[in-house]
Amino acid sequence: MDIQKVMVIGAGQMGSGIAQICAMGGYDVILHDLKEEFVHKGLAVIDKNLSRSVEKGKLTEREKNDTLGRLLPSIDLKNAAEADLIIEAAVENMEVKTKLFNDLDQIAPEHAILASNTSSLPITEIAAATTRPEKVIGMHFMNPVPVMKLVEIIRGLATAEEVYKSIEQMAKSLDKVPVEVNDFPGFVSNRILMPMINEAIYTLYEGVASKESIDDVMKLGMNHPMGPLTLADFIGLDTCLYIMETLHEGFGDDKYRPCPLLRKYVKAGWLGKKSGRGFYVYN
Ligand code: CAA
Ligand code: NAD
Repeated sequence: MDIQKVMVIGAGQMGSGIAQICAMGGYDVILHDLKEEFVHKGLAVIDKNLSRSVEKGKLTEREKNDTLGRLLPSIDLKNAAEADLIIEAAVENMEVKTKLFNDLDQIAPEHAILASNTSSLPITEIAAATTRPEKVIGMHFMNPVPVMKLVEIIRGLATAEEVYKSIEQMAKSLDKVPVEVNDFPGFVSNRILMPMINEAIYTLYEGVASKESIDDVMKLGMNHPMGPLTLADFIGLDTCLYIMETLHEGFGDDKYRPCPLLRKYVKAGWLGKKSGRGFYVYN
């Protein structure tokens, strides 16, 4: 399957990163969100990342401008009619994703692949909202997208082999390392990572140590690049909570119950770095 034009739905931290690497990889990219200001915020982040690479001598000014020139802003979902591949990176909510996939199915060309960057939600259920479940697949990038090598690729029950192969090839063309995993809640990455983060929040909630101490133990003792509470802020506490809820509901096992402190922070609007406050305060 020939992929030339990619549409990315959601211009938040993941969508903007995915759009950036696709444009850097030579694809034409439509970056779509609900409001113009969200799209422009995403484009501004890309511009900043590319400018930093120019300053470091890793990219020429011309390569930066060519990359920016391949990015087209969108607030009209009908632009999906132009795309060969759509990568959805909207919020981690099944209702939002199934509505989007249902709409995209009606707009996108027949040959187009519909991929989701979901962190934890079943691809098979998302695919069932379309009339082309064989062309629906999970393409799970890691944050920050321009830096992290992994892309988990998740087949839904009906995903066609040629679709899997196209997405595997596309991930490689973006200089990523695709890893195939099965369609279970949280896949592999968040089945393992998120319970660790949730346990770190319980450790704080139960007063075992301060947030700084918990992060120091995991950074200095286990060589993690970020402590788990810093990482939770970086991912977004809303996303962490949605993922824990998906694991809890999906497996029906209380070992995945989200920590009440995580719920409280999300209810307060303390979503981590993106809202300026989570376990830590950001400028
Ligand atoms: N966007 C783009 N590039 C970034 C970036 C960002 N947000 N943050 C850092 N970088 C780049 C820097 O420009 C720098 O690039 P060069 O090597 O070209 O100079 C490089 O990354 C290293 O950056 P720094 O030296 O500033 O910082 P660092 O060495 O502390 O690394 C980090 C930053 C890569 C984010 C590191 O702290 C790290 O690996 N953290 C853990 C990240 C992680 O676990 N991600 C997975 C989250 S879970 C997930 O994504 C799945 C899910 O569904 C929730
Ligand atoms: P984010 O909150 O930074 O961005 C989400 C964006 O989606 C927002 O700009 C929002 O306006 C937009 N959006 C919401 N509903 C939409 C709709 N109906 N149509 C178009 N745009 C819509 O979130 P994020 O961290 O970028 O996460 C996006 C997705 O990527 C989630 O499914 C998340 O689980 C997944 N993910 C997140 C991470 C992470 O570390 N944050 C890592 C891998 C995967």
